[in-house]
Amino acid sequence: MSTRLLVTGGAGFIGSNFVHRWCELYPDDHVVVLDALTYAGNIANLASFVGQENFRFVQGNICDRELVDKLLEEENINIVAHFAAESHVDRSIMGPGAFVQTNVVGTFTLLEAFRQHWEANSKNGDFRFLHVSTDEVYGSLGTDDPAFSETTPYAPNSPYSASKAGSDHLVRAYYHTYGMPTIITNCSNNYGPYHFPEKLIPLMCINTLIGKALPVYGDGKNVRDWLYVGDHCSALDVVIHRGLPGETYNIGGNNEVKNIHLVEMLCELMDELAPDLPVRPAKKLITFVKDRPGHDRRYAIDATKIKTQLGWTPSIKVEQGLRLTVEWYLNHRDWWEVLLSEEYKAYYRENYR
Ligand code: NAD
Ligand code: TYD
Repeated sequence: MSTRLLVTGGAGFIGSNFVHRWCELYPDDHVVVLDALTYAGNIANLASFVGQENFRFVQGNICDRELVDKLLEEENINIVAHFAAESHVDRSIMGPGAFVQTNVVGTFTLLEAFRQHWEANSKNGDFRFLHVSTDEVYGSLGTDDPAFSETTPYAPNSPYSASKAGSDHLVRAYYHTYGMPTIITNCSNNYGPYHFPEKLIPLMCINTLIGKALPVYGDGKNVRDWLYVGDHCSALDVVIHRGLPGETYNIGGNNEVKNIHLVEMLCELMDELAPDLPVRPAKKLITFVKDRPGHDRRYAIDATKIKTQLGWTPSIKVEQGLRLTVEWYLNHRDWWEVLLSEEYKAYYRENYR
């Protein structure tokens, strides 16, 4: 049986990168994207596939059980790659309700629908439910703490990470209770093409290009482990093809950087690559602002398990990945300019007031 893949959230940042890679590498597979096209979803991210024979886009909500049942059945899906989520910590602080609805209730709805579909068809092939989650479920590390491993206890601190933790627990329970072939991945901060402007790296790139302040939260010494999105997608490919049901795999970039250092690196790249910056050197725009409430100090991933058991390691160092990313934002002004909508500006004013 060839792979018939349902990608939820495939019009978002990581989901669309995943679809690009999958469709290029496996042109005989059938790919269906289910995406509600919230503020973070963008059909332009998938423009090159719409209308192609082995690809179908469906605008819809993962909480809509009837729709999910219909898609699983009608498209004869055997693999679900579940990316759909509310994904931005700052928005979860302003309004947690949507996070519980999509991340917890939506994941539960998908699990129930997939359970019914899998029970009815499991004799006909290899089924997988891949749940894409985050390292933020493990909480915050001190400077000298060991990196998060798959056995680190969950300690989520934001409504976002708590809702993702809730969904991870449900996914785990469906393996243990029903034997459903689920796999969970917990990855570190992604960056790269198609990243929505509200997140740190695209926000700094775009603000530099339009001459706006670069808001660094608190003292700027929070640490994130940066994973280039192409590396993340290659890890997910390996997990789908070779990962074991019931397992969790941590995926990291081996690139721990303090926020302020990362922003300075971006400024230097902008000075080098962008000929007509409104403010130069770009560093002059760096502004320290009030810290995010409950801001986790440090995230770091120990990716030993996926390396030793599945043979995957990240290939892109942060200096190289940032250069690729800056070049992408410089060459795709049309893509991001339309995203600076009234809704985005209202969110921005509220978050940074
Ligand atoms: P994103 O916000 O860019 O995209 C999310 C997508 O899901 C959007 O296209 C949106 O329209 C869609 N969506 C939201 N609610 C939906 C619903 N109810 N029904 C159907 N579609 C819905 O997010 P992303 O950065 O691409 O993240 C993808 C996944 O990876 C998420 O589950 C996130 O928690 C996880 N993750 C992301 C990062 C990161 O650095 N971006 C890190 C770790 C884990
Ligand atoms: P973000 O991209 O929101 O990812 P996450 O909160 O999921 O790690 O933020 C990355 C880091 O950058 C985090 O420590 C918060 C910080 N940050 C800023 O300093 N300023 C900003 O404007 C944003 C959006 C984030």
